[in-house]
Amino acid sequence: MTSVSRHERISGQLVDLKMPGALEALDEVLRGVDSGSLGGSEAIEKLLGAQILLRNNRRLEAAMRSSRLPAVKTLEDFDFTFQPSLRREQIDSLHELDFVRRKENVVFLGPPGVGKTHLAISLAIRAAQHGRKVYYGSLRDLVESLEAAERKGQLRRRLGILTYPALLVVDEIGYLPVTRSAATLFFQLINERYERGSTVLTSNKGFEEWGGILGDEVMAAALLDRLLHHCHIVNIRGNSYRMRKRGELARALHQAPARKNPDAGEEATR
Ligand SMILES: Nc1ncnc2c1ncn2[C@@H]1O[C@H](COP(=O)(O)OP(=O)(O)O)[C@@H](O)[C@H]1O
Ligand SMILES: [Mg+2]
Repeated sequence: MTSVSRHERISGQLVDLKMPGALEALDEVLRGVDSGSLGGSEAIEKLLGAQILLRNNRRLEAAMRSSRLPAVKTLEDFDFTFQPSLRREQIDSLHELDFVRRKENVVFLGPPGVGKTHLAISLAIRAAQHGRKVYYGSLRDLVESLEAAERKGQLRRRLGILTYPALLVVDEIGYLPVTRSAATLFFQLINERYERGSTVLTSNKGFEEWGGILGDEVMAAALLDRLLHHCHIVNIRGNSYRMRKRGELARALHQAPARKNPDAGEEATR
């Protein structure tokens, strides 16, 4: 069998199997095999790898449309040297998604700008790339959508929609106070998701302050009881990455050499 017919035969198989990523990589892989630079198992790995990459990118695109994730933030863009209080092994191991399979929760706690939302999104993106349904909302947006549904008599339906994703991100607990009725809806949401799906939450407030945020100590205790039963807590005790950027800018401006501008006086360039 000539290599041309082998190429055509494999192309036909990849079309039949609907594997456009592998099809695109086929020329290069076969060239590698023919030139001896790729072994048989390496060639198979490369071909399947190309298909998996395409599938994961498509899943991510679909998830970005349906999940309301506000940005693409990944583990690869996270600078661990900036956040030494984080245990890298813990974050890496969460990204292996066993917690999603076990329907466990994750809570990121820490002051503003330390990367809570970034890491919550990167977990959601990893889950989406693995074909899991994900959804993102701030606490305020999620409870507002539940309140709107309740007004229309569709609370059960909306709770069902928010319970369906394998991973739900509830971002920004604590920045804005919620009303008592909103807090009750949040409790119902956590109650519905308990042992049914993973919830990833972020908060700038310690758990002892959640009673204040939700306006009801007893309900907060019941909510935390469910939430923390199977939960990974990541406490980030560091500086704000946003402020770091501002600090760098301020330093850069401060250290910038004075421009030679005949119109500017000594004071203006200092
Ligand atoms: N360690 C880090 N490495 C890279 N980017 C970071 C890091 N921490 C935060 N960021 C970026 O800084 C910004 C603020 O982080 P964010 O996750 O929104 O903070 P938080 O939710 O804790 O307030 C985001 O753009 C985020 O991507
Ligand atoms: Mg945030």
